[in-house]
Amino acid sequence: MDANLNLGKQEYPSDASYHLLDEYDFIVIGAGAAGSVVANRLSEVQEWKVLLLEAGGDPVPTMEIPGLYFRIINSEFDWQYRTVPDNNSCLGFKNQACRWPRGKVLGGSTSINGMLYIRGNKDDYDNWEKLGNIGWSFDDVLPYFEKSIGNRDDEILVKQTDEVFYNSEGGVLNIEEFHQYPLEEYLRMGIEELGYDILEDVNGPNQLGFAHVEGTLINGTRCSTAKAFLNPIKDRRNFHVSKRSHVIKINIDPETKTAQSVRVRIGEGEVIDIGFKKEVIVSGGAINSPQILMLSGIGPKENLDDMGIRVIQDLKVGDNLQDHLLFLGSVFSLNKGRDFGTPPEAYNDAMYEYLTKRRGPYSTLSTSFTGFIRSNHSEEDRSDLQFHQFLLWSKDNSGLKAFADLFGFADDTVDSLEKLIQESDVLIMAPTLLHPKSTGKILLKSPDPFQKPEIYSGYLSDESDINILLDGIDFTTRFMNTIAMQSDGMTREKLFIQGCEMYDFETESYWRCALKHVGTSAFNPVGTCKMGPSTDPDAVVDPTLKVHGVKGVRVVDSSIMPNIVGGNTNAPTIMIGEKGSDLIKMDWLESF
Ligand SMILES: Cc1cc2nc3c(=O)[nH]c(=O)nc-3n(C[C@H](O)[C@H](O)[C@H](O)COP(=O)(O)OP(=O)(O)OC[C@H]3O[C@@H](n4cnc5c(N)ncnc54)[C@H](O)[C@@H]3O)c2cc1C
Ligand SMILES: *[C@@H]1O[C@H](CO)[C@@H](O)[C@H](O)[C@H]1NC(C)=O
Ligand SMILES: *[C@@H]1O[C@H](CO)[C@@H](O)[C@H](O)[C@H]1NC(C)=O
Ligand SMILES: *[C@@H]1O[C@H](CO)[C@@H](O)[C@H](O)[C@H]1NC(C)=O
Repeated sequence: MDANLNLGKQEYPSDASYHLLDEYDFIVIGAGAAGSVVANRLSEVQEWKVLLLEAGGDPVPTMEIPGLYFRIINSEFDWQYRTVPDNNSCLGFKNQACRWPRGKVLGGSTSINGMLYIRGNKDDYDNWEKLGNIGWSFDDVLPYFEKSIGNRDDEILVKQTDEVFYNSEGGVLNIEEFHQYPLEEYLRMGIEELGYDILEDVNGPNQLGFAHVEGTLINGTRCSTAKAFLNPIKDRRNFHVSKRSHVIKINIDPETKTAQSVRVRIGEGEVIDIGFKKEVIVSGGAINSPQILMLSGIGPKENLDDMGIRVIQDLKVGDNLQDHLLFLGSVFSLNKGRDFGTPPEAYNDAMYEYLTKRRGPYSTLSTSFTGFIRSNHSEEDRSDLQFHQFLLWSKDNSGLKAFADLFGFADDTVDSLEKLIQESDVLIMAPTLLHPKSTGKILLKSPDPFQKPEIYSGYLSDESDINILLDGIDFTTRFMNTIAMQSDGMTREKLFIQGCEMYDFETESYWRCALKHVGTSAFNPVGTCKMGPSTDPDAVVDPTLKVHGVKGVRVVDSSIMPNIVGGNTNAPTIMIGEKGSDLIKMDWLESF
């Protein structure tokens, strides 16, 4: 049977760290959502020697199983970032810090993420273009979303409407629908009763409404960008991957401001400089890319001076940090009588079902039913709130532990959840703020490249964000009160939150307090190497993703988003990888 399971039998490119060349044409830093795409696309050009440097190693079988996704977080495959306490947010988590997991493995965060495949709102990209980013309107970027997709299995249902394209020649990323939880049927009824649409697809022309979404999956297993973009090119002769290779800095000539080589530590040992002829592409993600630039002398003068780093280009690197805030305090118990999934006593059966058929609860996530609405405070046509659902099964203590560890809830709060799940299944309906006015920043804490940078989330520093989230909480109340959900015995439950016990439950003061305590990251930080034209004083890269004022360095990843998109950020980042690759090719290939 083992041969059929085929879990984690995927082959990745072998580790070239022991036979590196002295010089490459291009060096890509980080094998994540964007970096894997860039490495693949650049090495399509046979004459170009391409090196991909990745701090982590190969993915492991646990990552293959969607239902186990919480359990990879906080492991060696996670950079394990935490926000700096600010007295205004993340107060209900351990050490008053929100957890910001990031993948440290081939595939980057796509090897540890929730796999939802969501493209965001058309207006998001049109707004990028309005900020002066020519070539980034929705019509410009749609072909790049499309370009990645290449479902390998014809049997998998692939939806294709006039406006949404999932099949395209030459793509490699597989997407398919998550299997459905029985719970979803009930949720749908409540949503429809409230007057919101059930959409066939949130990636369609209309994003307002709820839908069961696609995931970056292949036959019920995770389809990370390592699986999609690196596996097929593992034997390319002009392509090297160096694993467990932590980039320390880019060496830049201070006179000509031209990047020359990359300094990297291989494993626990040697520090070496590797040269490149054409460009280095920084794809370390929204936290590490600004860190790498700052360590290289590109960043805010004040912070670099404090660190004793010679300033090569004074730019607002690390600023403009934007993330989706996810509120975890709207908690409901569901009628005990219903069968919403597989009870914990059936776990072995569920795993057997998964391993043999790739079906059942381990093949899916409760967050795969999501929705977008406009709050009562919305001034635009596009949605400003998304809803994520977390289902905690009755008496599933180990599942609860994984959920609690993912976010780092304070112990008293976990205890109160544990009591609740003894009685019934528990649903957390989490309103998620899509277009925050509050922004944060990343700063170096130390000139030591192995020390984590400081993350100031800035969550809820702008009052208007709170009002929108209060509308989101109100939505969950109205949802609970629908006939459909009432007939199902949906009841609001109080989460114990140490700092909010003085407020009467369900009052506005209570919710404001709860937002500051159990509002946290939806794991979509972006914006810290903002893209913008040279006239934009906050811009770090130009619309071709080159760092302003420096030669030979581009940033291609989630950090270039000038404004966060209205939806989970993986698909948009893969798109940035595709588009970024073409921008590079346009510069270096005579016929393109
Ligand atoms: C727990 C979690 C759940 C998520 N769920 C979803 C979801 O369901 N849907 C969705 O759309 N998005 C989701 N996201 C977000 C999505 O995964 C990210 O937006 C996306 O992966 C960002 O891509 P990136 O290329 O910018 O960075 P990453 O994918 O994080 O890649 C960065 C890579 O660079 C490497 N690196 C960093 N620094 C160095 C260095 N100094 N030297 C060498 N290598 C380095 C890292 O190890 C990593 O491999 C989730 C994220 C997390 C963490
Ligand atoms: C948070 O509050 C404490 C106690 O009032 C204070 O000592 C600390 O300086 C504050 N921290 C910040 C970041 O404001
Ligand atoms: C999907 O996985 C199952 C279980 O391993 C296997 O039987 C089936 O052949 C796979 N389908 C495809 C298309 O690979
Ligand atoms: C928001 O609008 C909805 C629909 O019109 C309404 O039912 C609800 O009460 C409003 N919520 C708030 C907080 O005003």
